[in-house]
Amino acid sequence: MTAPKKLFIKTYGCQMNVYDSERMAEALGGQGYVETATPDDADMILLNTCHIREKAAEKVYSELGRFRGLKAERPDLKIGVAGCVAQAEGAEIMRRQPLVDLVVGPQSYHRLPELEAKARSGEKALDTDFPEEDKFEHLKSRPKSKRGPTAFLTVQEGCDKFCAFCVVPYTRGAEVSRPVGRILDEARELVERGVREITLLGQNVNGYHGTGPDGADWSLARLIWALDGIDGLERIRFTTSHPNDMSDDLIEAHGTCAKLMPYLHLPVQSGSDRILKRMNRKHTAEGYLRLIERIRGARPDILMSGDFIVGFPEETEEDFQATLDIVEAVNYGYAYSFKYSTRPGTPAAERSQVDPDVASERLQRLQALITRQQRAVQDTMVGRELDVLIEKPGRKPGQMVGKTGYLHAVHIADCTAAQGETVRARITESGTNSLFGELCRD
Ligand code: SAH
Ligand code: SF4
Ligand code: F3S
Repeated sequence: MTAPKKLFIKTYGCQMNVYDSERMAEALGGQGYVETATPDDADMILLNTCHIREKAAEKVYSELGRFRGLKAERPDLKIGVAGCVAQAEGAEIMRRQPLVDLVVGPQSYHRLPELEAKARSGEKALDTDFPEEDKFEHLKSRPKSKRGPTAFLTVQEGCDKFCAFCVVPYTRGAEVSRPVGRILDEARELVERGVREITLLGQNVNGYHGTGPDGADWSLARLIWALDGIDGLERIRFTTSHPNDMSDDLIEAHGTCAKLMPYLHLPVQSGSDRILKRMNRKHTAEGYLRLIERIRGARPDILMSGDFIVGFPEETEEDFQATLDIVEAVNYGYAYSFKYSTRPGTPAAERSQVDPDVASERLQRLQALITRQQRAVQDTMVGRELDVLIEKPGRKPGQMVGKTGYLHAVHIADCTAAQGETVRARITESGTNSLFGELCRD
């Protein structure tokens, strides 16, 4: 028997890339590869890349440059670029960095075995097509190894919204929903392998409309109710949602489906109607706030999370104030804020840009507000008794770390529970980035 070849995958960007990296490892597992934690002994290095902001895309080239020495030592080493930079830049990557042997876009991962063989034979391998078929349905002989308690499951890919700043509709293509039956099969298999919490993924996940076993179009809420029926699955989450696709049945499910966790990532990007319009978001700040009122009507304790862009072209101080106002009005448990990054080929790239120093200063102000708000929300957990899904041992002896339904990490001292168990914990302290608690013994 020949020794297995070693595969090193480095993942950038969103959770969908994390899911894709797992599938790529499985696809290449069929070619005799096992994963390794370091590039130093790898036979193949794959960078699963992100194109969302300029910094993310440029990081790929600096990372590739670092492999020059390795490649000189071991000419058999193959280097591949996958993900959204691969889709956006294609063969240009090999021109700019000739040590790249393989470029594969996010819709073509099922072709990895052929592409790997081509690269092995010394040719350059490239595939950035948008094929019709489901890119993972070929994985019939997947390894059935035990897994940790949490997993991602992609149910929808691509985006048709074309926000004026965003590359996703170009790198991931049009919205496609996977059929219900395949998602349920995959979810059952994950649960058999030890998974207790599944996060359903999609760039626009609440726009999900996959074909059900009855031939009808199923909404995300209907899919969630079907997953709710899987024994052993304890928690369901989904991300990322668009405000305009928050349908009534999904809002209602937040109040009635016990497995659906009280956490919702619902990016608004800006609090200014003028900027929202320029962003092509197709909703107003007021509409977003009314929507959150309805969601909180269904599930009063839901923890809201969001994304914000500051320094979008033509953003004035007044527009930015409106963003601070909407953050104040929502009271987020988590929020992520980014300085606008000009992306070639998107409509906003052509417009008059905000001075970068002004944008940086606004980002600092917004992040200060968000940090205060996140901390205040986290502090309200102290004294409460909450269910915690145990994920891993903590740094201190006897300590275990898990997550609450609100996604806060909790360090539990003297914890006898194992990974994958759900325990009841009393929250005793709120730290900088996580909570501390003790087991409720009654
Ligand atoms: N599909 C998701 C996530 C898109 S990317 C959604 O619709 O929300 C994640 C976040 O990156 C976005 O919510 C946005 O806040 C940010 N983002 C996207 N394009 C950007 C750009 N050009 N510059 C800065 N931030 C950007
Ligand atoms: Fe990008 Fe907008 Fe689509 Fe989100 S909804 S992926 S921000 S185009
Ligand atoms: Fe980045 Fe692509 Fe995800 S651009 S955020 S990896 S969809």
